[in-house]
Amino acid sequence: PIFDVIVPAAGVGKRMRADRPKQYLTIHGQTLLEHTLNNLLSHPQIGRVILPLHPSDPYFDALDIAHHPRVHRVAGGKERADSVLSGLQTDDSSPWILVHDAARPCLKHSDLNKLLALAEQGTEGGILATPVRDTMKRAKTHMPNTVSHTEDRDGLWHALTPQFFPKAQLLTALLNGLSAGSNITDEASAMEQAGFTVNLIEGCSSNIKVTRPEDLALAEFYLNQRTS
Ligand code: CTP
Ligand code: MG
Repeated sequence: PIFDVIVPAAGVGKRMRADRPKQYLTIHGQTLLEHTLNNLLSHPQIGRVILPLHPSDPYFDALDIAHHPRVHRVAGGKERADSVLSGLQTDDSSPWILVHDAARPCLKHSDLNKLLALAEQGTEGGILATPVRDTMKRAKTHMPNTVSHTEDRDGLWHALTPQFFPKAQLLTALLNGLSAGSNITDEASAMEQAGFTVNLIEGCSSNIKVTRPEDLALAEFYLNQRTS
């Protein structure tokens, strides 16, 4: 089966402190957005890319990939969840939908394959994730630079993307979460709140989200290494 993917790319990249949104920074002469899209489009089970962009994005049209027949631009929103919602409301062809951050160019096809298998396994969907390695400290509420206690690291995961869910359920869960005013930082949080079982599929920690300036060199390193 073929699946569509929403690639939210409407953010401004504040933490990156660059002169442009981070998805338009380049590695080997190609923007992060192009690396991410080409990587997805070269997978045999990816159909269309639905691409939420900032409504006044001045960069995208200059890229060759803007004319790709399987890339469909839509207007993004204020928060990431609004951008994903906009993508969900546009797309209507497949029963399942992937969501993958534009800022994650280093996804391996082997990890994507593991995630896509969820659709064949009678599940309610899931996400790529990687186990937490460092010891986790909870700060005191009123003294945010001091430790309240150590969290039990067992069973803690970093949520990555792609995230992969039945589309109709995800749409309802996001609409309900947004109208309830919940803090929806990823698709899984909306699905959890709606009572679905979200599967954790262990993926590679090289699937980083380029977030801070030092991440760009790391992404370049992983892109050079990538074989599958
Ligand atoms: N994103 C989006 N619409 C928004 C905010 C974010 O489509 N309103 C996208 C970003 O472009 C990015 C992904 O969601 O590909 C993950 O978000 P994040 O890493 O937080 O990117 P930014 O919001 O751009 O960065 P920052 O939070 O540092 O400003
Ligand atoms: Mg953000």
